[in-house]
Amino acid sequence: MAAYEYETHTYDAIVVGAGGSGLRATLGLAEQGLKTACITKVFPTRSHTVAAQGGIAASLSNMGPDHWQWHMYDTVKGSDWLGDTDAMEYLAREAPKAVYELEHYGVPFSRTEEGKIYQRPFGGHTTEFGEGPPVQRTCAAADRTGHAILHTLYGQSLKQKAEFYIEYFAIDLIMGEDGQCQGVVAWKLDDGTMHVFNAKMVVLATGGYGRAYFSATSAHTCTGDGGGMVARQGLKLQDMEFVQFHPTGIYGAGCLITEGARGEGGYLTNSEGERFMERYAPTYKDLASRDVVSRCMTMEIREGRGVGPKKDHIHLNLNHLPPETLDLRLPGITESARIFAGVDLTKEPIPVQPTVHYNMGGIPTNYWGEVLNPTDDAPDAVVPGLMAVGEAGCASVHGANRLGSNSLIDLVVFGRAAAIKAGEIVDPNSENAPLNQASVDAAFDRFDKLRNANGGTPTAALRLEMQEAMQADAAVFRTDKTLAEGVEKMTAIAAKLDDLHVTDRSLVWNSDLMETLELTNLMPNALATIVSAEARKESRGAHAHEDYPDRNDTDWRKHSLAVVNGNSVNLTYRPVHLDPLTTEGEGGIDMKKIAPKKRVY
Ligand code: FUM
Repeated sequence: MAAYEYETHTYDAIVVGAGGSGLRATLGLAEQGLKTACITKVFPTRSHTVAAQGGIAASLSNMGPDHWQWHMYDTVKGSDWLGDTDAMEYLAREAPKAVYELEHYGVPFSRTEEGKIYQRPFGGHTTEFGEGPPVQRTCAAADRTGHAILHTLYGQSLKQKAEFYIEYFAIDLIMGEDGQCQGVVAWKLDDGTMHVFNAKMVVLATGGYGRAYFSATSAHTCTGDGGGMVARQGLKLQDMEFVQFHPTGIYGAGCLITEGARGEGGYLTNSEGERFMERYAPTYKDLASRDVVSRCMTMEIREGRGVGPKKDHIHLNLNHLPPETLDLRLPGITESARIFAGVDLTKEPIPVQPTVHYNMGGIPTNYWGEVLNPTDDAPDAVVPGLMAVGEAGCASVHGANRLGSNSLIDLVVFGRAAAIKAGEIVDPNSENAPLNQASVDAAFDRFDKLRNANGGTPTAALRLEMQEAMQADAAVFRTDKTLAEGVEKMTAIAAKLDDLHVTDRSLVWNSDLMETLELTNLMPNALATIVSAEARKESRGAHAHEDYPDRNDTDWRKHSLAVVNGNSVNLTYRPVHLDPLTTEGEGGIDMKKIAPKKRVY
């Protein structure tokens, strides 16, 4: 057994991760007087939410008529009928309240002439249950909305005396013999000390695993740490086959150019200068849902109408927009286009390509953020003491495809919901349970084994192999052949975790070891993704299967559940929640409006 000295910290609740959902949960917990700590591997305001540009969806009706039921309909349709109905209702209903709370906390939203929160159009957001024109529903702080939210929530959390453990890397969950989560073991990166956190509630807010792919808009820190920790406890990962490609990553660099650019009037063209989206999505054109736009761009490229010497990307045009609009509404991407594409967007189009952006799948939860361990007999069984929110979780509100600007609202609605629920469950006057020492020891043993790993495969080399396999075989379009090849490759790649070589054995600022721990988190996420994708014999949302081009609700309107054990994955399924929270008579949605139908834009 590895012998590490450690300090023990005791809290009512701990949150792992300090992005939008982690900070919103931290703030909500601390506001209720719970002794709360947030543990984060990066400084809070450097969390990946800082990169969210275009905005946060809520039916405020500031720019024209809107309704939470229209928002819910768009989310249901966007999810390609895989989202859980109760969670989608909760999101759309609570969104306005959550945004006004942000406003009152101090988020510096852009304003209309009348001083209201400015809202822009975004893909897939419509009026009249998809029958009317696009709606302006996405509340924006120029094109730096995530940045504005993150800074505000961090300031408010400090004000509420939440405690922050910054640049601490969470190694593993501590689980009691009764299956209750009891805390985490963490490594302080800057001085090499080890820490054990005992908590009555653990909230995982660790973000997505975009870096399982070679090219992603996600920060290099998006390594699926929560999913990795959960998988190592034999718990399930849900709907991992659904990986979103954002239509407009900068060609080559991968940096995000917000969908807000098309919301403000930008449009895509092919090598013939044609606005090709008019052909594919005659009603909403460039503002169709992003999985649809990414597929159309890929088809244009495959049919030889891509731009550039290799004809492998597409142009995003903004040079027709007034310079004052670009200055006021899109200053961030004006700068990104200059720095990362060498383009003056007042004069030239931006070269873009579909780029991995978001994971619809993750740790299964209910709409309160409680982690589920579904079985056939109890599909909604809860793991006591454990919650997951934000991109790490899967409520499931985005189903098979997320609408743009539904991520930021997911972060704050479900971060807030988790805090409310934890406030009901956690008794601040009770004693913390004694920790299961075997679980603590297991975390240190794993850490020590990796620290001293002396095999033949450097971490960076194995990570690259994984990223290239995922990029090639779990792509925008998939076939039986590419997916079977992907499963074979990834099974072999995951087995090489046993042959890792870590060069640096120190404990202080050991980036080699930290990246190794991250790779052990990325790998189960990646493996679950490709295996779940290979098994799903239909096309739905972001899972575009060329051998099964249609959605098949009879056999496949169900959530995939993956248990990862080493380099093998066991799949089961659980039913989609079909019931809303409220009936039509109670002011809820007319269920006929959200009945499954063909998804066209
Ligand atoms: O395009 C964007 O600004 C991204 C927004 C989102 O993913 O929600």
